[in-house]
Amino acid sequence: DQLPLQEIHDFMIEIAHKAGEMITAAHPSTGAAGNKKNSVDLVTETDRAVEKLVSTSLREKYPDFDFMGEETYKPGDTITDAPTFICDPIDGTTNFVHRYPYVCISLGLAVNRVPTIGVVFNPFTKQLYTAIKGQGAFLDQKTRLPLSTPTAFEDGLSSCLVAVEWGADRSGNDFAVKSKTFENLAKTKEQGGGMVHGLRSFGSAALNICGVASGGLDVYWEAGCWAWDVCAAWVILYEAGGIMADANPGNWKPTVDGRRYMAVRAGEGQEKVVEQFWSLVEGKFE
Ligand code: IPD
Repeated sequence: DQLPLQEIHDFMIEIAHKAGEMITAAHPSTGAAGNKKNSVDLVTETDRAVEKLVSTSLREKYPDFDFMGEETYKPGDTITDAPTFICDPIDGTTNFVHRYPYVCISLGLAVNRVPTIGVVFNPFTKQLYTAIKGQGAFLDQKTRLPLSTPTAFEDGLSSCLVAVEWGADRSGNDFAVKSKTFENLAKTKEQGGGMVHGLRSFGSAALNICGVASGGLDVYWEAGCWAWDVCAAWVILYEAGGIMADANPGNWKPTVDGRRYMAVRAGEGQEKVVEQFWSLVEGKFE
């Protein structure tokens, strides 16, 4: 059976706006935020309330679809081939509690485990990124992404603007891989580094990927985030001509729940950028 993708997409946008109203009406504070795994892995009442609103509305309208959300996920939960809504009620929770407006709701639909519809909405700036697989990606439902004609990567990775994230794991192997790789990226060519124009850590995986889809960011690289951080933006990225590779060297076909991602914007030479980046990754994510 063909799914009514357009209708589902429109409903997801409606829900994202409702969620956005809840997010902007909330009064979070750094003190009131609880934590999950450790002192920097934050969650608020608003995260939970927004996820409840989203899951209830989606289940009511699409009772046969599965739902996976950050706040109700249990270790061992997997994404099946069934149509599955994958939701992060607040991506950028740390920004949210600090009132830094780089925050979004990330709402995706995977079909056969392939990201198929993506809705990413920042309720503070009102930017809405959307895509249906095969139908292009849009900002505010009217402007096609990327926002300008993509230039070729003439200098490869050098001169790229790269988004990376520390994430919430601040020890162990994966933290070491990130720290060393950040240094390698930033070092000049004379020092054997990648000499990127800049490294940025804005604090929302979904908005970072939408930034790459838009073309302002050239690359986003992270390990440790989850399917709900990337599923929605993944569709938007591909529909904008971008590609997603693994954060670990060698794998061109990462899965949505693989927890390691490198997004590269549209433009001639994007594969070369991935390979150059991989050559600077020091160690391997587990
Ligand atoms: C986090 C953000 C952050 C990324 C983390 C994610 P959350 O999501 O996307 O940028 O570094 O890996 O978990 O916790 O704000 O929903």
